[in-house]
Amino acid sequence: MKFLPETSSFLFHLLLLTELLVRSSSLPIRSSSHCGFFGSMIHQVESLMNLSRKIHQLRTEELEHFEDAKITLDSLPDLYHTAGHLRSLKVNESLTQMYGYTQSFKLHIDWLKVAKENVSLPFQTEEGASSHLLQLSNLIGKCLHPQNKEALPSVAPNLPVVSNAFDALVYSVEISDRLKVFCGWSKRVLRYFHKHS
Ligand SMILES: *[C@@H]1O[C@H](CO)[C@@H](O)[C@H](O)[C@H]1NC(C)=O
Ligand SMILES: *[C@@H]1O[C@H](CO)[C@@H](O)[C@H](O)[C@H]1NC(C)=O
Ligand SMILES: *[C@@H]1O[C@H](CO)[C@@H](O)[C@H](O)[C@H]1NC(C)=O
Repeated sequence: MKFLPETSSFLFHLLLLTELLVRSSSLPIRSSSHCGFFGSMIHQVESLMNLSRKIHQLRTEELEHFEDAKITLDSLPDLYHTAGHLRSLKVNESLTQMYGYTQSFKLHIDWLKVAKENVSLPFQTEEGASSHLLQLSNLIGKCLHPQNKEALPSVAPNLPVVSNAFDALVYSVEISDRLKVFCGWSKRVLRYFHKHS
């Protein structure tokens, strides 16, 4: 474009820039930071937190008998490394993570419900928790960009058959502990987004 005088080159660039701005502003904006469901999500997490304490009704001195049990669920979400600094949180990344954890906990809770049913232990708490996890998952799903939802791995964990009440209780203790950690993390993250959205 050497033959163009300075001014038309300038105008040309201005035109390009305007075009670019118009295009980007007409893109559908579905920014997760404007998600209107953080309050409802927090409510679901609080209900879950309450239920997570009831998944096993063991007292501290009884819990000691379960600490040596060497059976663990490798597929349970492990959040000990997730709890980063709140300042560096990105809504889409944290919600994608939370969505994945929610689905995973639901799979484990549904499995625990069947396990308890099989060995004649009460399973109402698991039913309640499962329903709250489903509602939480649906709410997060509404705020997630479809792109981030697709990125989720959909591997079903290979969960063992539970043949006695003792094993069912060991798994209950483990799931309850992990669920508490998940609820604590989720509540902090959601409150932060709720405040900053
Ligand atoms: C959780 O339990 C606390 C104390 O028992 C109660 O005050 C609160 O309303 C419960 N929250 C939900 C959402 O169920
Ligand atoms: C979240 O959004 C940022 C900026 O919009 C992007 O760079 C990043 O890849 C996204 N993360 C995920 C997990 O989609
Ligand atoms: C519950 O019992 C059914 C039928 O015996 C069995 O197929 C299933 O694997 C058991 N579930 C668990 C979690 O142990």
